[in-house]
Order: sequence, then C-alpha cells, then structure tokens
Amino acid sequence: MIVKTTQFIKSATRPAHYPEGDLPEIAFAGRSNVGKSSLVNVLVNRKNLVRTSSTPGRTQLINFFQVNDDFMLVDLPGYGYAKVPLAVKKDWRPMMETYLAKRKNLRGVVLILDIRRVPTEDDLQMLAWLRAYSVAPILVVTKCDKLSKNERARQTAVIAEKLGVAKGELTFFSALNKEGRDAVWARIDALLAP
Ligand code: GTP
Ligand code: MG
Repeated sequence: MIVKTTQFIKSATRPAHYPEGDLPEIAFAGRSNVGKSSLVNVLVNRKNLVRTSSTPGRTQLINFFQVNDDFMLVDLPGYGYAKVPLAVKKDWRPMMETYLAKRKNLRGVVLILDIRRVPTEDDLQMLAWLRAYSVAPILVVTKCDKLSKNERARQTAVIAEKLGVAKGELTFFSALNKEGRDAVWARIDALLAP
C-alpha cells in the first residue's frame, strides 16, 4: 500500500464509541513496550503518528487511525505491564475481547512479539482469542536489530514452538532499520484485498 494520508479519528473503550462506517480494520496488539507504536509509525512513514515512549503501558484506549480511504489502523492497548493500575488491568480484558469478538470491520490483527523473549501467557491468550473469533493473525517479531543471526535463529525456534506455529508464519521486523516493513505490508494488503 502507498500511504498518502494518515489521520487520527478517535479513541474508544466500548462499541458505542467505535467509528461508524464500514472501512476494514487492521489492529495491532502486543505486550506493553514491545514496540507496537514504533512499528505503526514505520509502516505509515510518520515519526510520531502514534506516541512512542520508554514508559510502558501508556496506551490504554483503542485508537483508530484512518489510512487513505483504504482502511482503519487500530492501535490496541498493550498488555502485561506490572505497574499498570489494577483498575486499568481489570478493564483491559473485556475491552479487548469485546473488540476482537464483535467488531465486524476487523480483518486481521498484527500480533507483535519481542525477538528476545519467550511469548507470555498474555501473548498466548491473545492468539487463542484470534483463533476463537476467527480473526486472521499476522505474527510479527520485532526488535530484530538487537540479536545476531545465530541468536535470531535460536529465538525463532523458541517463539514458533511456544505459539504452536510454523517458523514461516513469523515476519521479522525492526523499527530501527526498517527490516520487514514491506513484508508486514504485504501481509496486511493480502487481508485487505477484496
Ligand atoms: P506501549 O504503548 O507503552 O505499550 O509501548 P509500545 O509497544 O507502543 O512500544 P514503543 O513503540 O513505544 O517502543 C518501546 C521502546 O522500544 C521505545 O524505547 C522504542 O524506541 C523501542 N523500540 C521499538 N521498536 C524497536 C526496534 O525495532 N528496535 C529497537 N532497538 N528498539 C525498538
Ligand atoms: Mg504504544
């Protein structure tokens, strides 16, 4: 996709506040601090469409951004950060599950994982929801610039095994050197194709 315009539309916590209309949606999910916002910014060639921060757990709403007249890019709140207030954690689960289960516009979810880490129970929960609600997953392994070739190969095996997917299902990415940008777009374009 050639990105001409990106525009913040609105934030929401529940269906009544989701944008109207029938633009298809691609959502982005992952642990707090995994690099979700950085990935989105690289995809749309913007330095700070989505705020990135070294303080995890900043994004606690579902944020909708329109890309061209083509689709809605949806930044989901990160999960798994210990210091997020309890009230926020309690709200996260129904907010997330409602969106994934009920949103008709949703075409797929980019699930972002850190190349250096073993996927957590939260990651597995997210993947289980996607399977349960028949939402297509795009599995992106990010921060690849942090590992050597050998380490990457080793971690790829660990991550694929933990998620129960073939290694070929994983797309490698780095917001630092933009490795994998085209590959992620190819997977998104495939889901948006009529
Ligand atoms: P929250 O919204 O707070 O949950 O975090 P997030 O998942 O949106 O992460 P964000 O994009 O804000 O990045 C978190 C930190 O990781 C920042 O310090 C980024 O600069 C860094 N980071 C993100 N992607 C990469 C990457 O591909 N490589 C490297 N080396 N650092 C990255
Ligand atoms: Mg973020």
